[in-house]
Amino acid sequence: MNQPAVRELDFGDQQSLDAALSIAARGLQESGILKITRQVRAMIARGESVVNLTVGDFDPRYFPIPEKLARGIQDAVARGETNYPNPEGIPALRQSISDYVARTAGVRYPLDSIVVCSGGRPVLYGAYRAIVNPGDKVLFSVPSWQNDSYSWLTGGESIVVESSRASGFQPTAEEFAPHLSGAAMLCLCSPGNPTGTVMSEQQLGDILRAVVAENREREAEGRRPLFVLHDQMYGALVTKGQRHVYPAAVVPESARYVISADGVSKAYAGTGLRLGWMLVAPAIGARIRDILSHAGAWAPKPEQSAVAAFLKDEAAIAEFRVQMDARLHDRLNAMQEGFLALKSAGLPVDSINPQGAIYFSAQFRLHGKTVDGRSIVTDEDIRMLLLERAGVAVVPFQAFGVREETGWFRLSAGAVSMDEIHEMFPRLRALLGEVG
Ligand SMILES: Cc1ncc(COP(=O)(O)O)c(C=O)c1O
Repeated sequence: MNQPAVRELDFGDQQSLDAALSIAARGLQESGILKITRQVRAMIARGESVVNLTVGDFDPRYFPIPEKLARGIQDAVARGETNYPNPEGIPALRQSISDYVARTAGVRYPLDSIVVCSGGRPVLYGAYRAIVNPGDKVLFSVPSWQNDSYSWLTGGESIVVESSRASGFQPTAEEFAPHLSGAAMLCLCSPGNPTGTVMSEQQLGDILRAVVAENREREAEGRRPLFVLHDQMYGALVTKGQRHVYPAAVVPESARYVISADGVSKAYAGTGLRLGWMLVAPAIGARIRDILSHAGAWAPKPEQSAVAAFLKDEAAIAEFRVQMDARLHDRLNAMQEGFLALKSAGLPVDSINPQGAIYFSAQFRLHGKTVDGRSIVTDEDIRMLLLERAGVAVVPFQAFGVREETGWFRLSAGAVSMDEIHEMFPRLRALLGEVG
């Protein structure tokens, strides 16, 4: 058969096309994390030696998905499970999730309160879409992950609370209290991105009890309740001595208002599998399912089938947890030890003991100092100094909504080797020793 002559396409001036797009599309800020990641990838591609602590992802060489899960996906494809899944997720998976939550958290979600979708992001986006009317107030603390973007996309008015180091940069009921009465939705994330800290049962319970009290009044007066978006994508990843708590287990009356996001992306290092779920009151779940259907944000059917079987396999989960947690804890503990050693050598750093997720929070107190005659003013100056002079790539808390120059940074443990972490500390020590 004759192939047609190939015509090169010209899309014309891209700037004027871009200017013609919607306000929502054009006003979306590029993620500060992606910008940094791009810069770091370019350096690595040029052959520069960089310890890349910027990505909230896993390197599958160090963090593969469970073998049984990988095999289950292949088997499901071989069985021909390649047509559309049910829009709310296949029943077997929703049953496995319900059983898993009952086993681990002691609360039973019925099947119609579990909606499966393609990762955690659709849960967050769907929740914003289902709850937030243009102009509605969305309450969240910073540093936190992506709330500003979702709020922008849905026309929400962001009410931002700066959380403090004292509470592990997680919000408290006292910080939220002045803003509760006017808010449509409140957002929580524990274990936190970027903080790597876990909300205690008390801290979470106090916020939820305040929400329930607020909603008693609102619903008695026929007003819309305050909803809670609760991101527990890292719920399975906590360090020894920490416990992840489910809102419905701490304050059962809050279940009516809470949308919890969960999935396999972080818990089983399966960020590329694209499978997440929400735990939610059935009326809300049905609406979010319908919204997400228009984006086709369903999880692939072979993955659904495989995760359904995997979540039932308590022994396989336990074995995987031991292996993955050990690798993660080795990395986070090496970072902690390294920073404590720098601090006890009198160098201007601070850090927070890791509690969960795949992140370590470290502070470089370098503002007002000089290196090579160059004065350091902003967190961006610190970031560039660490990158250029020590080959260490980190993300400032400002990429997570913090406005002030605090010197706090997120270090991700998911894509580095132990060797890289060990090599990084002498370089940091030498650089920090030079700072005048
Ligand atoms: C706190 C938090 N929530 C949700 C997500 C999104 O998860 P997914 O990759 O499953 O969409 C991420 C991803 O980095 C995250 O850090």
